[in-house]
Parts: sequence; structure tokens; C-alpha cells
Amino acid sequence: MVSIRERKPVEDIQKVLHYTDLQSKSPTRANDPYDYQPGWGNRHQSELIPGTLPVAQNNPQETRFKLYTEGITYSAFAAPRNANFSTYMYRARPAAAHMGFNSIQSTANIENCFLSNNAAVETLPEQAEWAPFPIPSMPTDFVDGLHTLGGSGDPNLRQGMAQYVYMFTKSMERRAFCNADGDFLFCPQLGTLDVQSEMGMLYVQPGEILIVPRGVRVSIRLGEDSTAARGYVTEVWGSHFELPDLGPIGGHGLANPRDFLYPIAHIDEDLHVPFEIVYKMNGKYCAIEQDHSPFDVLAWHGNVLPYKYDLTKFSSQNSTSIDHTDPSINTVLTVKSHDPNTPLLDFVWLGPRWDVATNSFRPPYFHRNAASEFLACLYGDMSARSDNFQPGGASSDSGHTPHGGFGDEYVYEMQLQENQPRRILENQMTIMVESSRTLLWTEYARKGCGCIRLKGTNPKVWEKLRDNFSADPLAKKLLAIVKEDRKNAKLKREMLLDDSKLQALLNGHD
Ligand SMILES: [Fe+2]
Repeated sequence: MVSIRERKPVEDIQKVLHYTDLQSKSPTRANDPYDYQPGWGNRHQSELIPGTLPVAQNNPQETRFKLYTEGITYSAFAAPRNANFSTYMYRARPAAAHMGFNSIQSTANIENCFLSNNAAVETLPEQAEWAPFPIPSMPTDFVDGLHTLGGSGDPNLRQGMAQYVYMFTKSMERRAFCNADGDFLFCPQLGTLDVQSEMGMLYVQPGEILIVPRGVRVSIRLGEDSTAARGYVTEVWGSHFELPDLGPIGGHGLANPRDFLYPIAHIDEDLHVPFEIVYKMNGKYCAIEQDHSPFDVLAWHGNVLPYKYDLTKFSSQNSTSIDHTDPSINTVLTVKSHDPNTPLLDFVWLGPRWDVATNSFRPPYFHRNAASEFLACLYGDMSARSDNFQPGGASSDSGHTPHGGFGDEYVYEMQLQENQPRRILENQMTIMVESSRTLLWTEYARKGCGCIRLKGTNPKVWEKLRDNFSADPLAKKLLAIVKEDRKNAKLKREMLLDDSKLQALLNGHD
């Protein structure tokens, strides 16, 4: 018998069915240079020099090294415990030490007002796809390479969401970014993100996601192995990313809390350098100039923290007997809306897994769902959807826009004699942002990006699907019988309701 130890590890992370195929003893990929602390939803703490974090209080009269105490909140002070978020930082200089806000120019396309009276944004009622978004030819960093595709709501109302793409070729050097509007979920497709945050370093590769809460400052740099980066950012306003409740699934499964990784304290080696901190505030850029690094936090504790998650660790659940489970079963993170019955959005994993349902049509059935769907392929071949749908591009189906299983896969499944267990979506990773909102799309998404495809996104095979019912002679005969039966039944009912006809009927019976 072959020992488990003799099983050959998969070396390429993009070829695994699950992270455990690596047979790694580390919770991070081999090339990840940083240490982390695990546990979604915890109050974490970290200190670069042991003994820096104040013990048993937050605001000592004198901190070690005479550091400055600074707090950041993310909720109302008196929010219930489960919705109360704050972090205390102990730093070389407080963030308030700066030389003022200035307006700045940028090549970014940022739009955050998704209200119907904004003529700059419009619906896309038909199925839309985008070929891979273009990498800029001029040196561009994350701040300048960020483009809003669409959204719903407005950050100033503290309700809604926006979907972005980013493409950049240059690291942010002596430049940090602070989103004062909402939380960012980064989903890299090309290139590694080497992210410095106030709370420490995070390395995020295609197939991993990064969440940066509102107000936390970050510098987004290219990893050593990357010369360009492209990916997706989902922003939410007024609520935040949470693990979904598991209901009857129980205490474990989907994205497990221990697989979410938080940074440890880290500071810049040279703290006395000029720095620009670009703010996104109500959808507009402005910037702070200062003569010191914002990455000078020696110790911190709290729960307003950036964190990352490796999507290859997702523990997928599904039907083991019959039928197609709703795609919500693949929710990695969800965001509540003001409607207790409807999330603002779900961030959904569509990765490799076993498909075992029997006597069932297993691909997605045709549907016109209430939710809007934004899909993006991170790696692998998802061209079955259409020739346009490639890694680095995207697709959109607005709520109630009809669509279904992908093209030829649909016909193939119809012809299967038996539903044998099979592995699906191997060597692929696709994500879906499923929102209860009808998204409005920016001029950049509709035209400026140059890669939108509106026509021909419907798989041709759907148009050719024949009407089997009308061609079935037995169905025609049965239809005629049913029609006749219904006609007779109706006549009888009418007679029972008409006193004169009823009397005639009764007289006939006498
Ligand atoms: Fe769908």
C-alpha cells in the first residue's frame, strides 16, 4: 500500500485542487517572505521590540521609547461588541504630524457616485465581457493605475459598493495610499503585491486576496518576481467583509477562520524621508506631504487590521447526492446590507473541485437571478464561457439578464449517460462578486478601457438549442388531449355556476 508520505506533492500552486496538494508544513506559499498571525475576527497584537506594547492599558502616561499613542476606529464608539472595531498604534510620529492636504493629478479613473442622477454612469443591461485590461505602457503605480468599472450607492451615504481594476508597472516608493471611503478587497490576477501597511507586511499573489480596512495606510509594491501587476479591487461602503454564517454546515468549512493571516509589526529602516500619502476621500484623490515615513508603528493591538487569505485553501462543500447547489455555497466573504435578508455582496470562489451529483444536470442551470454577477478569471482556461473571457478580463451579468451554463459544456452534460464523479475547473481560479445591487458602469468600463465586448458574449450554442418539446409528436398529441379536457372541464364549471343551465341539467337527470 502506498504511504501518504510517498504521494507526490504538486509544486505549482495553480495546478492544485487544494492547498494541501502542496504537502507543505507552512501556512504560506514557499516564496512568501513574511510571518503572519492567524485567525479571522480576533483582536490581534504585535510588537517589534518585546516590551513595547503597554500592558493592561491603552494610554500610558509615558510609553516605551516615548512613542506616540494613536487610535483608529472603524465603528461607532458604542457599537455592540461584535461590531466594535478599533486599533491602538504606538508610533514614532503621529499621523497628525504632516504639512497639509493638497490636490493632485492622476491618470486613475475614479468614480464613486453611483446614483441615478449621475449622468456619467449607466447600466449595462446586456451580457458584457472585457478582454484582458491593458497594462499601461508608461511607468504607473497603483494609485495612478486604479480604475473604477462600476458600482452602486455612494461612499458619503455609507451604503454601496464599487468594482475596480488595477494595472501598474511601478512600485509605490515613498508614497502611501489611504482609502477614507471604505474597505478594499484586492484580488491579484497578474504579478505579486508586496504590501506594506501600518501594521506590517503582506505578500499577496494571484489566487490570494487581501482586505485593507477603511483608513489603514498601505504602500502597494511589485513583488521581486513581477514587472507588472493587474487585478481586481472590490470596495464596500458602510459595512465590511465578514465570514458567512455556516448554518447546517456546522462549525467548519468554506473559508476557515484560521486560514486568514494578519501581519506582525514592522517599521521602515529610515523613518526620516519625505512621504506622500494619497487619500481617496468621497471618490476624489488628495494628498498629504510629510517629512517622515507613515510606516513607523512599533507596536499595535486591535481589530482594524489588513489581512490575507489563500483561495486555494477554500474548503468547498456541495451536493453529494442530487442537484446543483446554489453558488452561494462558494461564498468566501460576505458583506451585509441594510436588508437583513440580502447581502450587499458575496465574494465567491469558483475553483477546482470534485463534482459528484448523480441523476442531475450539474453545470449551472439557465437563470435570471435577482443578483448582479461580476466574474473574473485569475488563471487557467475559462474560455468555454466565450473567447473573450480570459484571465485579466471580466464579465458582467446584471440582475435578471438571462444566462446559464457555459456553451458546449451544457450540451456535453445533456449527452452524458451517467454522472460519473469528475474534477471540474482544474488548474483554474475564477472569482465572482455577486451583488444585490444593479451596478452602474463608468465611462472607463463602457468605452475608455478599450476592451469591452458587448456583442457575441452569449455562447453560440445557446442560440442553437432546439425546441425539443415542439418537435415531439407524443407531446403534441398529449397537448391536444389536455386542451380538450380543460375546455370540457371549463364548460362543466360554467354550467354549475349558471342556475338555468344547472336546472336543465338536473331535469335531464330526472
Ligand atoms: Fe449566473
